[in-house]
Amino acid sequence: MTATERNILVWDLPVRLGHWLMAGGFALAWLTGDSEEWRLVHVAAGGTVVGVALFRLLWGLVGTRYARFADFVRGPHAAIAYLKSLLGPRPAHCVGHNPAGAWAIVLLLALGLLTGAAGWLTYQEIGGELFEELHEGLASTMLAVVVVHLVGVAVGSLVHRENLPRTMITGRKIGATRDAIIGARPLAAMVLLGWVGALAWLLSR
Ligand code: HEM
Repeated sequence: MTATERNILVWDLPVRLGHWLMAGGFALAWLTGDSEEWRLVHVAAGGTVVGVALFRLLWGLVGTRYARFADFVRGPHAAIAYLKSLLGPRPAHCVGHNPAGAWAIVLLLALGLLTGAAGWLTYQEIGGELFEELHEGLASTMLAVVVVHLVGVAVGSLVHRENLPRTMITGRKIGATRDAIIGARPLAAMVLLGWVGALAWLLSR
């Protein structure tokens, strides 16, 4: 940390809470996917992933600085340039999401929604085996993207000597004061919790 740097707030509470709800929901849905006995838990866990993804779409438009899609969604050139820079002596560093990680994030949100939708149609016994197979295929694709995401987080942490998993808990990174977000948005986090809880409950009734 240089003289001008501080431990600054980067990730607001809805981003952090949403992240761990989505990660936990996905893990639980994966573990309970094959069991008839755990069907309601599986549906509630899937509903949690869908609820977080829907909230995140809105938060990507009205949330704090680094939560906004406009801050981190970039084209393939930016992602490739970022990845190339990791191999050089001066790896590019981003306060928010990097442009390569952003692709995994967008894919995870989209796959969370699509997997949930196909799962819901299967649960409603609509479309026969079609949606069941689609649901399984999408869930496996999502698992593959999660693995890429985790490798990306590990590489980013090593290259930048920054504990990225911890930043998703504390919301804080070392950086210039001018780069900090102003508030953690606890009220929005409570809305997220209420919305996700209500959706998971409604879907699994
Ligand atoms: C132990 C497991 C996990 C760890 C340590 C982890 C860590 C992280 C970190 C550090 C970031 C921020 C990356 C950055 O600096 O740009 C992030 C973002 C993200 N991760 Fe994970 N992750 C985990 C599991 C998952 C899983 C299972 C999913 C989805 C099913 C997921 C979905 C996301 C999403 C959507 C974001 C973007 C957050 C936002 O901006 O709202 N993560 N994760």
